Amino acid sequence: MDDRTIVQVTAWIKCYLTPFIFRGFRLRWAEVACRLNGQVIWVAKLANKRILLGVTGSIAAYKSAELVRRLMDVGATVQVVMTEAAQAFVTPFTLQTLSGRPVHCALMDADAEATMGHIEQARWADLIVIAPASANFTARLAQGRADDLLSAICLASAAPLAVAPAMNQQMWANAATQANVAMLVERGVTLLGPAVGEQACGDVGAGRMLEPDQIVAKCTEQFETGVLAGCRVLVTAGPTQEDIDPVRYISNRSSGKMGFSIAAAAAEAGALVTLISGPVSLDTPARVSRIDVRSAEQMLAAVQAYEAPDIVIAAAAVADYRPLQVATQKIKKQAGSAQLSLEQTPDILATIAENRGDMFVVGFAAETEHLEKNARIKLEKKSLDLIAANWVGGERGGFDSDENALTVLWQNGGVELPMAPKEKLARLLIEIVAERFDAKNSTENS
Ligand code: C5P
Repeated sequence: MDDRTIVQVTAWIKCYLTPFIFRGFRLRWAEVACRLNGQVIWVAKLANKRILLGVTGSIAAYKSAELVRRLMDVGATVQVVMTEAAQAFVTPFTLQTLSGRPVHCALMDADAEATMGHIEQARWADLIVIAPASANFTARLAQGRADDLLSAICLASAAPLAVAPAMNQQMWANAATQANVAMLVERGVTLLGPAVGEQACGDVGAGRMLEPDQIVAKCTEQFETGVLAGCRVLVTAGPTQEDIDPVRYISNRSSGKMGFSIAAAAAEAGALVTLISGPVSLDTPARVSRIDVRSAEQMLAAVQAYEAPDIVIAAAAVADYRPLQVATQKIKKQAGSAQLSLEQTPDILATIAENRGDMFVVGFAAETEHLEKNARIKLEKKSLDLIAANWVGGERGGFDSDENALTVLWQNGGVELPMAPKEKLARLLIEIVAERFDAKNSTENS
């Protein structure tokens, strides 16, 4: 190889390979190690997380562009909301281009409210981060004002709130700012910084916004309770329909709400969730893959086609019986009574549990009597790791209602989850599942 070729090859390596090497390092920094079926895999730290980034009027707003990129690097979906003052420092167009989503700025914007209004944005967020948070915005937050879009969203959201102050050191040190910040912290707001150092105005002191990478690291910490990060979770939900003839079927009153809430809660806890659902009229939860089926037979096939989940949660109300024969034509009405011969459907849960390997298997028991006793029998009989039992029929919630109460049982223990909306119940159940799943794994590995 002559000198010219060496120079050309070196230039080629620099030009084409360096970005990949850097990208490789950056992606590895952006990921977190998780154990999946005994193997270590890498998962984006904020995968499945919806971050609402509030940008307010401070010179540090120019760093928000970088912050959007860094958050997206670690898998987050970022929705930017800007105050009016913020737009003097960085344009909505810049942040819109980087985040890939329209930036929202005005509270009284009929078009924006018609698409994703402030209440929807407040509900959408898993975490709200205000970066930079100016002295003025911090004061307005402390007062609970709702006179612009960002403050209204903060007030209307149940999502955790993190604030990264950025202001002149004297403004930061002022007793009024300190009192506002103390009030926010007391209310559970997470304070990110500020850092100490040279400021844009020439002063030196506390009041600099944390660097984007530091903010991303702190955001990640907020989700470290996401104990199912990287786990592959399979959820069954809804009823099944067992055909009698081309127009009739046997089914039950399951709405699928509990199973869908469980799928949503597992996704929020960082799991990679597949939901196999019978016929229901529910929207697919965010970040969940959904497979629709009708009969028990189809549900079993879909479950068996899914390779090696870490956790299976069978919330479906699978029909126990189906017609022995499905009539090819509509059965005609005849004088007198009619008979329908039934056969048992495959028990999906028992089939999974039989060939489980390391899999953690959770079943449901819908009972009209002797709830705990019947649930314990099912726990044993179907070799489950955990069972969630609930009353059905009458006034006691269960099928087709928005609320429920659960008795959660495992081999040597159990816990009662009192009546609550199914979404909340699902999050509590997911916490218990994660705890028992970890306990099982640590026993097996010790
Ligand atoms: O025995 P029982 O039907 O009460 O058990 C309920 C549990 O078993 C639920 O978790 C349900 O999803 C599951 N099941 C199943 N396949 C069936 C019947 C029930 O997976 N054929």
